[in-house]
Amino acid sequence: MNFSQKKIVKYCEDHTTAASALANQLERETNLKTLAPQMISGEYQGRLLQILCSIAKPKLALEIGTFTGYASLHLAEGLKENGILHTIEANKELAIIIEKYIQEAGLDNKVIRHYGDATDIIPTIEGFFDLVFIDAGKRMYANFYDMVIERINPGGLIIVDNVLWSGKVVKTTHDKDTKIIHDFNDKIQNDPRVDNIILPIRDGLLMAVKK
Ligand SMILES: C[S@@+](CC[C@H](N)C(=O)[O-])C[C@H]1O[C@@H](n2cnc3c(N)ncnc32)[C@H](O)[C@@H]1O
Repeated sequence: MNFSQKKIVKYCEDHTTAASALANQLERETNLKTLAPQMISGEYQGRLLQILCSIAKPKLALEIGTFTGYASLHLAEGLKENGILHTIEANKELAIIIEKYIQEAGLDNKVIRHYGDATDIIPTIEGFFDLVFIDAGKRMYANFYDMVIERINPGGLIIVDNVLWSGKVVKTTHDKDTKIIHDFNDKIQNDPRVDNIILPIRDGLLMAVKK
């Protein structure tokens, strides 16, 4: 292809519904107050998550890795009426930002916040999920997937972030973290329970639909 990838990305971003004022405020606060603000989903991916969620209309959704709540705000917009999003964050110091924005968005009853390790918290959440966004602890991806896959309703969607690992997955030799992500992608590719696709958006977004 004979065009600049950067220009294409910019063009796509310029033709994507802009973030809300509240989401922009949260992104600014994340940049000012957190040590690794690049972890935020950001405007383009946030919009994609909102659109996917609006199509899936989940009754019960789960996010693993809240960070400052940017994706939570977007996922919550797509929930079915009376739908609930559970979101789990290990770093309790982020609660002050998460709580502020969930309250300001009026999502107190729709977004249930959990603070602690997702490995401990997932088994305490009852019910079957229609959508799960895995976005925490890259070394734990396979573990989180195994924890949720039998708790996804048929037709339910799993979304996993960072599966291209800055493009390192296509290199011929893999460092430890890249191998973990590559093995995870192979695991999903070989799982007969799902139909799956990787989109080369940002750091790579894997989607798997339960059959
Ligand atoms: C990439 S960020 C999440 C970004 C967020 N989903 C968004 O779209 O803005 C990953 C977050 O997962 C959290 N995390 C890491 N390991 C975790 C675990 N085992 N359980 C729960 N949260 C974890 C980190 O503290 C970090 O805030």
